[in-house]
Amino acid sequence: MCSVDLIRVVGGTPLAGEVTVVGAKNSALKLMAAALLAPGTTVLANVPQITDITIMAEVLRRIGCAVEQAGDRVEISVPEKLDGEADYDLVRRLRASICVLGPLIARCGQVKVARPGGDEIGSRGLDMHIDGLQRMGAEVTGAHGFVIATAPRLHGATIWLDFPSVGATENLLMAAVLADGTTEIDNAAREPEIIDLCEMLTEMGAAIIGAGTSRIVVHGVRALHPVTHRVIGDRIVAGTWAFAAAMTRGDVTVRGIDPGFLEIALDKIICAGGAIEQDRDGFRVSMTDRPCGVDVVTLPYPGFATDLLPMAVGLASVSDGSCLITENIFDGRFMFIQEMARLGADIRTDGHHAVVRGKDRLSGAPVTATDIRAGAGLVIAGLCAEGVTEVAQVHHIDRGYPDFVSDLRSLGVPAERVSGAADPLDM
Ligand code: EPU
Repeated sequence: MCSVDLIRVVGGTPLAGEVTVVGAKNSALKLMAAALLAPGTTVLANVPQITDITIMAEVLRRIGCAVEQAGDRVEISVPEKLDGEADYDLVRRLRASICVLGPLIARCGQVKVARPGGDEIGSRGLDMHIDGLQRMGAEVTGAHGFVIATAPRLHGATIWLDFPSVGATENLLMAAVLADGTTEIDNAAREPEIIDLCEMLTEMGAAIIGAGTSRIVVHGVRALHPVTHRVIGDRIVAGTWAFAAAMTRGDVTVRGIDPGFLEIALDKIICAGGAIEQDRDGFRVSMTDRPCGVDVVTLPYPGFATDLLPMAVGLASVSDGSCLITENIFDGRFMFIQEMARLGADIRTDGHHAVVRGKDRLSGAPVTATDIRAGAGLVIAGLCAEGVTEVAQVHHIDRGYPDFVSDLRSLGVPAERVSGAADPLDM
């Protein structure tokens, strides 16, 4: 039998108060990989204490690093000689660990990394990572579930990405900083986490032009040095609180985030009838009346973030009117809609579109988290439901949201984590 944790919430209380977001998961994971590029000790501050970081720390240890985690600081001591083979089972458990591919090939000339599978939000290709490395002179093959890449020394190249992939842009950047000559990445991803990575690489001695634009130019250097770097705030966690405030008709101040990272998301909340106040370190969201339905289309940054899609669906589910939500990044992102239906949401999907007819109130029920963001979205939808909602498979939420339940409680919501419930049918 296995033991599972649940998050239990009682709906009907508007969220009120202040919450501070931690550092961005999707930045911290890549910065940990970037540390591999320089022998010595790199220190990261404002790192979220979540399971994905723990797994990434273990990936780095197996490659030969010493990794110390103390509160929100992670110290990574990188030896002169690294093992170019990343642990198969660990890499399979964490999609982001594929980002050791770029730094390891740059440092070791040879790398063997498990091919991460598709996951709960859809199939997730590697072709752009591989094509880019090949253009930089790497020989890449696959065998027994591994990606194996060899290049005694990478050289600069011009790389056109078919799509502004976050992961491919990061891997190629990290490979290019130590390559011979100049690399140009066109149609590069522009996410704030890419800018954070470029800033840290530049502090380490890399020569990068164009971070945050769709054309990044990297002049390779011979060596990099370790640094101390503070991770940017998590815009997806901040956006989750913004939507939660709007959906529950609450009043929440979110700190530790540049509101410029969330321009479209906050604008959607304004269009739904909410009020936003912003300053350099955060924003305040309040909503007094029932929100109006607003259409949402997910796109690469600066478009509406796919990771906030479950929250947009939640807002639409309790809004006045119908709206169209379109997902353009992941083919499986709508998997959680069946769980929203258990809460009484009226949603029809057709391919990558969902039509949501808003209801005044949802109805509490036991539901299951299918991925990190869907899990958080379901908890928040439960806050707008009559009665009790229990969200199972909480380990998904733990991958991205440290202290989710304590944050909810600090915002005045009756929420608890119930541990150890055993499923007698799960033998
Ligand atoms: N893709 C390919 N081939 C490639 C690379 C990507 O077909 O070589 C496709 C993917 O299958 C997907 C799309 O391109 O359909 C976008 O993928 P991208 O590479 O941009 O995403 P990622 O790097 O795998 C990161 C975040 C995701 C976030 C996306 C989009 C991390 C660890 N993950 O994934 O975050 O949704 O960018 O912004 O940074 C999350 O935090 O919950 C999460 C899923």
